[in-house]
Amino acid sequence: MSSKGQMRLGAFFNPTGHHVASWRHPDAQADAGINFQHYVGITQTAERAKFDLVFLADNVCVRDARIEALSRSAQYIANFEPLTLLAALSAVTSRIGLVATASTSYNEPFHVARKFASLDHLSGGRAGWNLVTSGMAAEAYNFNRDAHYEHRERYDRAREFAQVVVGLWDSWDDDAFQRDKAAGIFFDPGKLHRLNHKGENFTVRGPLNVPRTPQGRPVIVQAGGSDDMIAVAAEFAEVIFCAPLTLEQAQTFYRKIKGRMAEHGRASDAMKIMPGLSAIVGRTEADANEKYEHLQSLIHPVVAREILSTVLGGVDLTPYPFDGPLPEDLPMSNASQSTFANVRDMARKENLTMRQVAMRVAGARAKSVVRGSAQQVADHMEEWFRNGGCDGFNIMPPYLPGGLDDFVALVIPELQRRGLFRSEYEGRTLREHLGLARPASRYAKGSPRVAAE
Ligand SMILES: Cc1cc2nc3c(=O)[nH]c(=O)nc-3n(C[C@H](O)[C@H](O)[C@H](O)COP(=O)(O)O)c2cc1C
Repeated sequence: MSSKGQMRLGAFFNPTGHHVASWRHPDAQADAGINFQHYVGITQTAERAKFDLVFLADNVCVRDARIEALSRSAQYIANFEPLTLLAALSAVTSRIGLVATASTSYNEPFHVARKFASLDHLSGGRAGWNLVTSGMAAEAYNFNRDAHYEHRERYDRAREFAQVVVGLWDSWDDDAFQRDKAAGIFFDPGKLHRLNHKGENFTVRGPLNVPRTPQGRPVIVQAGGSDDMIAVAAEFAEVIFCAPLTLEQAQTFYRKIKGRMAEHGRASDAMKIMPGLSAIVGRTEADANEKYEHLQSLIHPVVAREILSTVLGGVDLTPYPFDGPLPEDLPMSNASQSTFANVRDMARKENLTMRQVAMRVAGARAKSVVRGSAQQVADHMEEWFRNGGCDGFNIMPPYLPGGLDDFVALVIPELQRRGLFRSEYEGRTLREHLGLARPASRYAKGSPRVAAE
């Protein structure tokens, strides 16, 4: 829970919404992925509601799936490159934070440092970088490789990548640019620093060709939950996007990751943990259930089977009757044994067919889903927030714009009434919204980095 007792809220936008069939909703913008006015509308709605940030996820591929399922899906198939989109959105918003994913596996640190620094200037201090290592083989094929990096290897690369990016962001002191026309001095040479980084994966001289940014450095976000990820996040991440399914899982993760920060001399409140929350909100519980059932009815069975197959580690489900029981003897990989056990238990307990299991799994997509009235959704959020499960949430509207409109109209006022969310922005930058200090440059007087060098 934050010191001010208020939640941090992100608006996590999948173009048409997070529900797999959201693009088929009667009110959906089916072309949302490349519809700028759609993004202007939803981002301004989130800003009016005083969300801390909007978040755009990203992959650098069209994912691999059976074409009959892929051709019935809208998510991450064809959409704007997110940083380009955020740059445009920065011009039509003034307060809300702007966060996008960029992969450390398929970028160079100089590129990432430069682009996010530019966005921070363009937006007046509202940029955030979601550092991910990428997870799909299909991404490797677009970058001169025939396989993805191994898990540990990609996080080793990510650590060094982050070191370089953070170093480049300090290339110029805050007051390096005098731009003194009379004297003819553009910048003070003593306030320019070359990084001269030479490491396992990167050799980067610097300096960056963008001045130090309004936030000092853009906010670093990380998404995931593995031990390798936690090791990097404890050192660098200022926000965590994660996907625990129960309060207990959330509490364990929260303690674990915050507990590792001291190793890097960081205070635990220098990181805000924001689990994803898919909230289907109605005026009443029955209304919310109706909205959910409507979305569920739009899932094509081929799509549902594909998602179940993916969740079970890629096992081929096509030979089995869809309206029969979930087979007990599927050829499972080790990695997905525990997921399979969960899914099989659910099927057994309620006597579900494979179709029913697939629809359920496709509807939730391994995310925390709450359904109900504003009070019920706020109760859930308050319970997690007050009991050490999180510092806020990354709200994942199931469909857009309606799912966001419902949350803003119904849940936000309820959270405000409970004193759990702001009614006005207190500051101008993303760091100020999140309650994160503006970091001093490593070259600033008194900085431990300078003393050590
Ligand atoms: C809320 C959330 C958002 C994510 N966004 C992205 C993304 O935009 N791009 C991406 O490649 N991976 C994304 N991921 C995947 C993670 O970066 C990570 O690869 C995945 O959770 C596997 O965890 P691990 O890397 O900790 O093993 C996201 C994960 C979560 C929980």
